[in-house]
Amino acid sequence: MSVVVVVGTQWGDEGKGKIIDVLTEDADVVARYQGGHNAGHTVMIGEEKFILHLIPSGILHPGKICIIGNGVVIDPSALINEIKLLREKGIEVDNNFFISDRAHLVMPYHLIYDISGEERRGDNKIGTTGRGIGPSYTDKVARTGLRMADYLDKDLFHERLKANMFDKNLFLTKLYGNEALKFEEVFDKFMEYRKEIERYVTDTNITLKNSISKGKNILCEGAQGTMLDIDFGTYPFVTSSNSTAGGVCTGLGIAPTRIDKVIGVVKAYTTRVGEGPFPTELLDSDGMKLRDRGKEYGATTGRPRRCGWFDAVVVRYAAWINGLDTMALTKLDVLDRCEKIYICTGYRYNGKILKEMPSSLSIIKECQPIYKEMDGWTEDITGINSFDDLPGNARRYIEELSNIVGIDFCIISTGQKREETILLDGPF
Ligand code: GDP
Ligand code: IMO
Ligand code: MG
Repeated sequence: MSVVVVVGTQWGDEGKGKIIDVLTEDADVVARYQGGHNAGHTVMIGEEKFILHLIPSGILHPGKICIIGNGVVIDPSALINEIKLLREKGIEVDNNFFISDRAHLVMPYHLIYDISGEERRGDNKIGTTGRGIGPSYTDKVARTGLRMADYLDKDLFHERLKANMFDKNLFLTKLYGNEALKFEEVFDKFMEYRKEIERYVTDTNITLKNSISKGKNILCEGAQGTMLDIDFGTYPFVTSSNSTAGGVCTGLGIAPTRIDKVIGVVKAYTTRVGEGPFPTELLDSDGMKLRDRGKEYGATTGRPRRCGWFDAVVVRYAAWINGLDTMALTKLDVLDRCEKIYICTGYRYNGKILKEMPSSLSIIKECQPIYKEMDGWTEDITGINSFDDLPGNARRYIEELSNIVGIDFCIISTGQKREETILLDGPF
């Protein structure tokens, strides 16, 4: 039995979906622990592309149990849509899928708050996905959120939604100058949605407890990445949940003593979507090349991702915060035919050299990356699935990353597809 956590080490979109899909082969249960449909996890099976937003990426393997934990916030209409799309592609979402009764809902007013809040922030906007995620977590912490368990209790839901909407409408009309939402319309729509999802709702804490006691292999799927974590990311340019490994404990009810292994997913370079500091960002043709070759466009919003060289300060920080045991390197093939490749080993700031991630945003903004130059390779490595078949300079790049971060790799990904993977060490 093992509980294995898969976590993003950068600013999200590291390729967690692909790695989860590869590892699900040996897992019994795959569980999401935080975030919402702000996430977009891409899995390619043959020529068919799946983008998972809420449902764990393990769903594409028949016979595996998939769980949305209490730490996730759920927009029922987005979930219903995702289930429908999966079913249309012949994927089973039925007795293999469970939703925590402690998970919070994303409501229509959360969406409006998110979008209006961004508009009001103007140049200081966060660049959210506009999915209502932040406002839903705000309500959770303010103790005014609505949980799945409340949703299943029609009278309670009616009463709490009414009270909430009275307050929300005051803000919507008086502060944001929007129209008020109509309570009956929202309530009726949510009762319709409920019919579609209530059969999946259960106490997933017990499901997980039973699975762990039976010796099953559990894979915990993180969304976003370490630098988007509400506590450890580049605050306030972050998401509203703990995307780091600690989120597993609170977002699934799996205690720290039960976690066996943490795998950090690391892209071979760095990307970020949305606003906020990004020390190794390339605004020149090298950045454009990375975006083009890596097809770096958001899986959820389609926005172009900002691209830059590998930042070892970020990944070393992620290694400590998440207690990484091992790492999965993705998108190495995107660096094919780069004459030179650069690794940021530290930052220059105010005449000093920084090796640790600063907390202050104004310091991070001023940091100048210090680069180590590496020679690239001319071969196309797409699909290579043995370490020894990689060109020497690709192997040297991997070894250098591993040395600088201080953690070994268990997986090297050389393409989008399942089989385009070098498996060095199985996690379970
Ligand atoms: P996630 O949010 O961390 O799951 O990552 P996304 O799905 O948002 O973005 C990663 C993108 O890179 C997806 O389009 C993947 O199909 C793709 N991808 C993953 N691994 C590799 C790889 O090794 N090589 C290439 N070329 N693409 C990859
Ligand atoms: P996956 O799981 C990359 C970013 C948004 C924005 C900030 C806050 O696919 O890696 P939010 O809507 O969460 O309030 O937005 O976080 N963001 C992501 N960036 N990948 C994601 O998820 C993201 N989820 C949120 O772009 O900068
Ligand atoms: Mg993504």
